Amino acid sequence: MRTVTTFNSGWIFHPAFSSDLIASLGTGAPVRLPHNAVDLELNYFDENSFQKAFAYQKVLAWDSAFQGKEVVLVFDGAMADSVVWINGKEAGSHRDGYTPFVIRLNDYLEPGDNLITVKVDGTENPEIPPFGGQIDYLTYAGIYRDVWLKVTDPVSIGQVKVETGNEMSDAKAVSVACQFNNPCGHPVVGTLLVELCSTDGLVLNQKQIDVSAESAQIKLENLAGLDLWQLDAPRLYRLKLTLMTAHGRDELAIRFGFRTASFTVEGFFLNGKKLKIRGLNRHQSFPYVGYAMGRRAQEKDAEILKNTLKCNLVRTSHYPQSSYFLDKCDELGLLVFEEIPGWQHIGGDVWKQESISNVRRMIERDWNHPSIILWGVRINESPDSHDFYAETNRVARELDSTRQTAGVRCHENSEFLEDVFTMNDFNHSASPEFLSGREPAVLRDQHTVTGNALALPYMVTEFNGHMFPTKRTDPEVRQSEHVTRYLEVLDKAYSDAKISGSIGWCMADYNTHRDFGAGDRICHHGVLDIFREPKFAAYVYASQCEPSEDVVLKPVTFWARGEKDRCEALPMIVLTNCDYVEFQFGDFPSKRIEPDRVTYPHLPHPPVIVDSRFVDMAELGAWGMRWQDGRITGFVDGKAVSEIHFSGNAIATSLQLQSDDVELYAGEKDSTRFIVRALDQLGNVLPVFDDVLTIKVDGPARLLGPDAIAFKAGIGGFWIETTGEKGELVVTVSTRRLGQQRLSLRAK
Ligand code: GAL
Repeated sequence: MRTVTTFNSGWIFHPAFSSDLIASLGTGAPVRLPHNAVDLELNYFDENSFQKAFAYQKVLAWDSAFQGKEVVLVFDGAMADSVVWINGKEAGSHRDGYTPFVIRLNDYLEPGDNLITVKVDGTENPEIPPFGGQIDYLTYAGIYRDVWLKVTDPVSIGQVKVETGNEMSDAKAVSVACQFNNPCGHPVVGTLLVELCSTDGLVLNQKQIDVSAESAQIKLENLAGLDLWQLDAPRLYRLKLTLMTAHGRDELAIRFGFRTASFTVEGFFLNGKKLKIRGLNRHQSFPYVGYAMGRRAQEKDAEILKNTLKCNLVRTSHYPQSSYFLDKCDELGLLVFEEIPGWQHIGGDVWKQESISNVRRMIERDWNHPSIILWGVRINESPDSHDFYAETNRVARELDSTRQTAGVRCHENSEFLEDVFTMNDFNHSASPEFLSGREPAVLRDQHTVTGNALALPYMVTEFNGHMFPTKRTDPEVRQSEHVTRYLEVLDKAYSDAKISGSIGWCMADYNTHRDFGAGDRICHHGVLDIFREPKFAAYVYASQCEPSEDVVLKPVTFWARGEKDRCEALPMIVLTNCDYVEFQFGDFPSKRIEPDRVTYPHLPHPPVIVDSRFVDMAELGAWGMRWQDGRITGFVDGKAVSEIHFSGNAIATSLQLQSDDVELYAGEKDSTRFIVRALDQLGNVLPVFDDVLTIKVDGPARLLGPDAIAFKAGIGGFWIETTGEKGELVVTVSTRRLGQQRLSLRAK
């Protein structure tokens, strides 16, 4: 039997590696994993601070349970170049910050204490992808994902690939390719039992075979009564494998789903049905602690994409992301386009070999996720490189014949070696007069892009981003334009049946190098800010869902006469999936306004545009007149289903404190997010409120980031993280004007 236990606690961290640490335990700071080698300020920090070598040490006491077993450490992710020594001897190394690696301890373990030293070098080493050129993101150093201690019998189940067949019929099939882990080369004689189970453990089908080699294949066929993995009902199954040999009994369960996914010249099809992809790109970074966020924060991002932003796909730009994130995508029904690490630059031969290995590592780690529908096997936005990309494609196809490949580029007429032509189409460039005389040059014709007269399977993998960076704190005019650009691109993508869909740049603002962003080391390119708090543009996405799922009504306004130029409060975009809205200013009669299906004929839910076509501008008055309340009511099937009431006299009135969770786990480095909002007397966020907020955490948790921050556009955000003990956690936020709010959570 195998045991797999977390190996995250009890590490000693050294802010600088020295060769003395290879064989002797030094004095350092006790830490738990996931760990960020250098915590950063929110902005204006020194991005070189983590570009050096660090060391982690841990003592592993010999355990009689290791006797006669295979003992390995599994590192889920360490950035960027890792070397592991056991008792002073090098036991393994890994030169990729995004994929897991296994260190076999057997040859090094001794009775008594065993010293494990890990050197993690965060330098942007030009031999390792994505490094060698500039990159528009940060690759925070450290052992930033979990580490596991795995003890198995000398012969155990190794890599498992699950492939489904006849998915659309009631005689589904599933085949399992299983490799055995047998480093000592024992004779393998025994049986392998495969049980198909529901996720709650009910055995639905099974088969047993004799095994006598280093690997085995089993196929279960004619499987009736099974459900497909669908976006609104992502049914998952488990394949439980039991290996019995003279060397013991090993069990392993793999989760998978039945679905078909194909990009065609007519668009994308999931389970035979056409689906327009509406996605966002995601970086896996967080303020202050970079990549070192555990399971809950990873899962939360998937939930935000699916449940708040109503996306149907995420691109893991530009590298393989946390397995927790991908697991959650499987559970939620959120499609994934996963790609190898890289950004524009292609290095030398050693670099390319590492990149080809990354294709293998990514696919072998993730091939059982039903959510993943496409492998990105090209360095994002890199030039053509025939031999290199012929090889990445070959490796991907050899490893996984069930998924198509793609390669994201940004230049026209590039060589097409993949199955799906994926293009970052930033054609919609900024113009200084963005509100008038606009040129709706939105998305290029695919033939212009591909240079191919024939239609290809085609998808737009980035747009907007650096063409129109927009902060959540930006003025209403700029945010309205930001929103308009998203509306225009999505409408265009919906208009063209041959475009499989579009993936906006990007989900959330992210820390980056000085060469990018607003000079503050942040690219303000998200539809969410860096704390995952929505900008108005987030509601372009959210409002495309059906009102039966969620009613969305979001007027893009600060509700103030003097916010916009010439003191004109209109036009105002209302992002909504309601059938129509009623708009009322002060005591004037309300006006019924329909979604603008003329400007946005293709969107599932075009916005309502409130302007002089519907409202007599004289009603709203001019500079020098009284400003009044506003009321916007959304109707579905003739019924008022949502209403927003704006005050014409907003007063800072109350403080709202919300956390994503009320219970955290003490036993792992668990974190949750808090959002603080300054509200007016009607409960609306005050859009330019910027007072100071202090944060206090009592109990077994620590605050990530500083304990005094300024509200940004009426909102402040932070995370707290458990420190190991169980108990009550009390978070208190205080302001000078709006008093205090307190929330009590449990670490269990
Ligand atoms: C793209 C790139 C992204 C990001 C984006 C900003 O060129 O692929 O990583 O930098 O630009 O708009």
